[in-house]
Amino acid sequence: MIDHTTVAFVSGANRGLGAQFVVRLLARGAGKVYAASRTGDTTIRDARVVPIALDVTDDASVARAAIVAADTTLLINNAGVNRQSAFFAADAIDNARAEIEVNYFGVLRMSRAFAPALKASEGAMINVLSILARTALPAMGSLCASKAAALRLTESLRAELSPHRVRVIAALPGAIDTEMSRDFDGPKLSPADVADAALDALAGSASEIFIGAMAQQLAAGLAADRAAIHARLHSTY
Ligand SMILES: NC(=O)c1ccc[n+]([C@@H]2O[C@H](COP(=O)([O-])OP(=O)(O)OC[C@H]3O[C@@H](n4cnc5c(N)ncnc54)[C@H](OP(=O)(O)O)[C@@H]3O)[C@@H](O)[C@H]2O)c1
Repeated sequence: MIDHTTVAFVSGANRGLGAQFVVRLLARGAGKVYAASRTGDTTIRDARVVPIALDVTDDASVARAAIVAADTTLLINNAGVNRQSAFFAADAIDNARAEIEVNYFGVLRMSRAFAPALKASEGAMINVLSILARTALPAMGSLCASKAAALRLTESLRAELSPHRVRVIAALPGAIDTEMSRDFDGPKLSPADVADAALDALAGSASEIFIGAMAQQLAAGLAADRAAIHARLHSTY
């Protein structure tokens, strides 16, 4: 639940889904929202917004942010990259490294740095993953691998933090209408709807949520017949 006692921290808050998390948190009455970006700027004008500089690949930057935002009760690990890279692309190794550094190690760094604040407040963490954490699209194989790693990470974090009464939620959306999916032709979710669905999860009991029809259908298909879904995805993408 979001109310005036909520102090949220959103990574990658300068654009795309992260900016909508900030907007929706404010609309729901959050008391303070740290809007983190690599530049430390925000265009969202509200007295409750605190812009803060953060590069999730940089230990010192993460440590500084965790000290400044030591009153955080809700951490939203949203920052992510997708190099749209297949494993046999010329620059596949560099791309895989960049994705794992942000999408996996970034979440790990942030979670470790903010765990004391979340434990003290018996707060919550929402990790923005992707339905591609559950399956592979060969056209972006290393992105899928990085999100799968982050899903396993999220499951372990949940186990380690639940004795401290900290909720850890994995959000697995389908395609979202942001810069990251500009080349995707299919239906895309609005970033505001995705942010709302992820925040709604705080009032429920599910720890893994599939956002949008694409994610929900894929999850159901994988549960029913994993091989059939893989065969279809791997021949199409
Ligand atoms: N778009 C989709 O279809 C889709 C689908 C499923 C899941 N997701 C996930 O949703 C999340 C948000 O993505 P989006 O769609 O909003 O993409 P986006 O518009 O490309 O935004 C990505 C955000 O992450 C930030 N970021 C990247 N590297 C960073 C770093 N090293 N340190 C701090 N911030 C960093 C970016 O900052 P800069 O502006 O400085 O680059 C930007 O604010 C990601 O985790 C993504 O994987 C997206």
